[in-house]
Amino acid sequence: MIDHNTIQRIIDTAEITEVVQDFVNLKKRGVNYLGLCPFHNEKTPSFTVSPAKGIFKCFGCGKGGNSVNFIMDHEHLGYPEALKYLAKKYNIEVVEKELTAEEIQQQNERDSLLVATKFANTYFQEKLQKNNDGRAIGLSYFKERGFREDIIEKFELGYSLDVRDAFTIAAKEKGYKVNFLEKSGLTIVNDNGQFDRFRGRVIFPIHGLSGNVIGFGGRILKKDVKAAKYLNSPESEIYHKSRILYGMYFAKQRITQLDKCYLVEGYTDVISMYQSGIENVVASSGTSLTVEQIRLIKRFTPNVTIIYDGDAAGIKASLRGIDLILEQGLNVRVLLLPEGEDPDSFAKSHSSSEFTKFIEKNEEDFITFKTRLLSQEAKNDPVKRANLISDIVRSIAIIPETITRTVYINECSKILGIAEKILTGEVGKLRKETYKKEVQKNEFKSKEGKFSPPIPASVEGFYAKPQEKEIIRLLLHHAEKVLYIEESEDKYVEPRDVLVAEVMISEILNDDLEFENLVYKKIFQIYLEALNKGEVLDSKVFTDHTDPEISSLAADLLSDPYVLSKIFEKGGAHIRTEEMVLKNLVPETIVTYKRKILEIAQKDAAEKLRDAQNLSVEDSNNLQREFMVITEVISAISKDRGWVVFK
Ligand code: CTP
Ligand code: MN
Repeated sequence: MIDHNTIQRIIDTAEITEVVQDFVNLKKRGVNYLGLCPFHNEKTPSFTVSPAKGIFKCFGCGKGGNSVNFIMDHEHLGYPEALKYLAKKYNIEVVEKELTAEEIQQQNERDSLLVATKFANTYFQEKLQKNNDGRAIGLSYFKERGFREDIIEKFELGYSLDVRDAFTIAAKEKGYKVNFLEKSGLTIVNDNGQFDRFRGRVIFPIHGLSGNVIGFGGRILKKDVKAAKYLNSPESEIYHKSRILYGMYFAKQRITQLDKCYLVEGYTDVISMYQSGIENVVASSGTSLTVEQIRLIKRFTPNVTIIYDGDAAGIKASLRGIDLILEQGLNVRVLLLPEGEDPDSFAKSHSSSEFTKFIEKNEEDFITFKTRLLSQEAKNDPVKRANLISDIVRSIAIIPETITRTVYINECSKILGIAEKILTGEVGKLRKETYKKEVQKNEFKSKEGKFSPPIPASVEGFYAKPQEKEIIRLLLHHAEKVLYIEESEDKYVEPRDVLVAEVMISEILNDDLEFENLVYKKIFQIYLEALNKGEVLDSKVFTDHTDPEISSLAADLLSDPYVLSKIFEKGGAHIRTEEMVLKNLVPETIVTYKRKILEIAQKDAAEKLRDAQNLSVEDSNNLQREFMVITEVISAISKDRGWVVFK
C-alpha cells in the first residue's frame, strides 16, 4: 500500500501537460492544450488538456481525468502501478504504508510464487532453445506447426524435459523452496516424492496483465498416451484461471487501438492469428467464459467477436455463456469458420488481410446468429419454436440499453416471423420480473412519516441517476458561488451570503434523501463533511482526489461543453452563462430530482396496487393512501415554486 501523503504528493506534482506530453503532441489553444486523442482514432484533435484544472478530456471518445487516470488508461496500469509510474517520473520516493503481518505474508507468498514462475519460464525456454532433446522434440514441434522463431520468442514458448524431476532439481539447486514450487503447481509432491508437473510437454506460459508469468499450459506431444492433451497450472495466489485471458498481455494495446477484441478457444489459435498479423486476439483456454473475463475485455473495448470453428455442438454449448457477455453490455458478434477449420488453421492458410476481410464479411451479431441457428433447428416444431422464442427473449431482456434491445427485437421478429409487439411484450415482462426481484432484495426501508423508495441501483433507468449527476455537476461548477443574501430580522446582524452548496445540500438532507450512485454519493458526502466544518470545497479537491473514480468523474463533469443550460437560452438573442441563471437553475435542479424520486415511488406503489389480489385489505388501503399522497406531493412540487425565495 502506498501511504496517503505520498499519493497526494504524486498527484500534486504530476503536472497534467507534462504527463500527457510524453505520449501526445499538444498544441496550445487559449488557456488549454489540444492534441490527437490517444484513446481513439481521430484526424481532427478533440483531446483537450486543461493545466488550470489539472485534467484531460476527449470530446470525441469521452475519456477524461487527472494525471493518474491518464496513466492508468494509457498504460493499462492499475491505480498503485500508475502512481508508482508517476513517482518514478518525478523522483518521488514512494512511502509504502506499513502492512499488517497478514498482508506481508500474502505479499511474500505472491512474490515468491512470481519469482518461481519466472525462473521456470526462463528454464523452459532455455531447454527449448539449447537442450538437445528440447530442440529435437519441442522446437521442431513448434516449427512443424509453422510458428516463426520471433513468435516463439515473443510468446516465450518452452519445453519441459521428459524427466521425472529435472526442473524441480534445477530449481532447488538455485535455492527455490519446494513449498513455493508446489504452490505454484510446477512441482507435484506426494508419497512417492517430487515430480515435475509438465514433464515431457511443450510449454505455453500465461502472462498477467503487466507481463509477469503467472501460470503455464503444457501440451503433450506423444500421440498414444492417455494423459490429457493440455495440462494447466492449478489455482494459486497468483493464478486465477477465471480472471485471465490467454494473450491479453500481448493483445491489449492493439485491442484499444482497433476498439475490438477477437475471442478464440486455445493457445495455438491466439499464437497463429498473432503471427499472421491479427494481434487483438485472446483465448478463454477451453473453459466457458466467466464474468471476470468479460469485464477484463471490457476494460479495453466493448466490441467482441467470438470466433468458432464450425462445430455446431460446441457452439450450442457456449450460447448460454454469451448471455453473460450481453449482460455486461458488450457488443457481441460471432464468426463461424468454414467446416473443418479452426482459427489456427485458418490463419495459416490465409493472409491477415484475407482473414480480416473474411471476418468483416461473415461476422454476425450474436442475437441474430443465435436466432438463425436455433430457428433452423426448430423448423416447424411448435414446442421447439416456443422454447426458442422464450430463449431469445431471455437473451434480449438481459441487454441493458433500451435502444439496443429495440433493434434486436426488430431483427428477431423478422427472422422468426413473429410480430414485434409480441416480442416487446415478452421482453418487458421478463425485465419487470427481474426488476421486482431486485426490489425485494433491497427491501422497503420505510421510516416514520418519511418514505425512502426502494430503488434498485442495478436496474438502469429506475433511479434518479441523471438528476443526481446534475446536482453534482452544479456543485462542482458553482458550490462556492453566492446564491442569495440572507437579511436578518435583527438589523444589527450583518446580512449573510448563502452559497449554492449550502442550499443544495440542505435541501437534500432536509428530505432525508440519499444518492444511489456510489460515486455521486461519495462526492456529496465530502461536500457535506466540509460544510459541517464551515468550508465550501473547491472543485480541485475532486479533480485531485486520490480516489480515481472521483477524480475521473469530476474531470468529466467539469469539462462538459454545455455550460449553457438549454432551458434558459432563448432564441440565441442573449447568451447567458450558467452562472447568471443559478438562481433559477439550482431550485429547478433540486425540484427535478425530488420529483423523479417521487415518480419512482409512485410507479412502485401503482405496480403493487395492480397486483392487489395478493394484498390484504389493510395493505391495499395503505398503499392506496400512499399512492395518493405521493401523487399530491408531485403535483404540489411541480406547481409550487414557493420555496424559490430568491429575488
Ligand atoms: N484445453 C485444456 N485442456 C485440454 C484440452 C484443451 O486446457 N485437455 C484448452 C487449451 O487451452 C486449448 C484449448 O482448450 O488451447 C482448446 O483446445 P483444443 O482446440 O483441443 O486445442 P488447440 O488449442 O487447438 O491445440 P492443438 O491445436 O495443439 O491441438
Ligand atoms: Mn488446434
